[in-house]
Amino acid sequence: MAYDSDLSFNYFGPTKIVFGANAVRDVDIEMGTLGGTRAVVVTDQGIIKAGLVDGITACLGGRCAGVFSDVPQDTGVEVVNAGAEFARKNGADIVVSVGGGSVIDTAKGMCILLTEGGTLRDFNGVQLLSRPQTPHMVIPTTAGTGSEVTNAAVIMDKEMGQKRLLVENFNVPRMAILDPKMTEKLPPLLTASTGMDAMTHAVEAVHSIPHEPLTDGLALHAIRLLYKYLPVCVENGSDLHARGQVQIAATMAGWAFGNAMVGIVHAMAHSIGAVAHVPHGIANGILLPDCMEFNLEDAADGYAMVAEAMGVREKGMDDSDAAQAAIRAMREFIRKIGHPQKLSEMGVSGKDIEKAADMSLSDGSIVNNPRIVMDPAEVLEIFQKNM
Ligand SMILES: [Fe+2]
Repeated sequence: MAYDSDLSFNYFGPTKIVFGANAVRDVDIEMGTLGGTRAVVVTDQGIIKAGLVDGITACLGGRCAGVFSDVPQDTGVEVVNAGAEFARKNGADIVVSVGGGSVIDTAKGMCILLTEGGTLRDFNGVQLLSRPQTPHMVIPTTAGTGSEVTNAAVIMDKEMGQKRLLVENFNVPRMAILDPKMTEKLPPLLTASTGMDAMTHAVEAVHSIPHEPLTDGLALHAIRLLYKYLPVCVENGSDLHARGQVQIAATMAGWAFGNAMVGIVHAMAHSIGAVAHVPHGIANGILLPDCMEFNLEDAADGYAMVAEAMGVREKGMDDSDAAQAAIRAMREFIRKIGHPQKLSEMGVSGKDIEKAADMSLSDGSIVNNPRIVMDPAEVLEIFQKNM
């Protein structure tokens, strides 16, 4: 892919990664490297029931300040406020989150309140902070969101009737412990859909307007690993090698989109998620191939690289041929991993997609899409193809 001769960019990715089966056993030592002495563990009831927290609290021993496990599937302002209050009362100086996107985002909000005081309603805007926040270690139990290495958190504000977006470079997690054993029990559908969230991060980082060589490198290797290992994880969840490769891919895709941003797929997934509660990864997975088709003329060179990463670019193909091969392979891939194919399977109605098409145009992600989108009818057409 060609880059402008006056290329300039900032790349930001300060999170330390500790990887390995049973790496969580070092949580106490790693906590010390961040200067933490008392850790509050943030998690949800499902993770507790799955038995994923006991080993971590045992390792922390007397340095565990307590476990805050009241995180719902979509976290909210009150949850973050309660979590911060719990951590403060118990004298925590470091936050260890064990879970998926909602748990990690809750912990991100807590870190701000532990440092700055107040409640989450005092923080409305992006890049408001001027100093490092309470250290945060993430132990992901899904492989997809990339939230362990990004500066963003999404927190529902029921009173305001909207989601709050926190974007703070001073609040990126300091460390992520990627332990394949933590994702071993993830069921096949959740494995497939969270994996497709990562795949979408990677593809959107490649086609986004602010993409650059570092994000391309991360995204393309993430695609390579996901294409090879996600089907293995769906087939055999206890293949720890494959689980580990998918975790690494999700984190690389997180670094890629955390810098290069995402585009129309996420704009549409956010909107249909808000309107009809379609899980984020599933919406992305269903919409990705047709959104690639939509962007084809403006992103053929990027998708040609995606085809190379997937190993489907054949000799003699020009960029456009290769891009189309990538789109065909992506459709086939989604079928192969048993991912839902249509939004109607998820209970979405014609009214829902009309509303979501309008909303997509005001989503922040749409501005980074390679093809300019001005007309909600164009978005509606993509939604309709997927009903
Ligand atoms: Fe996403």
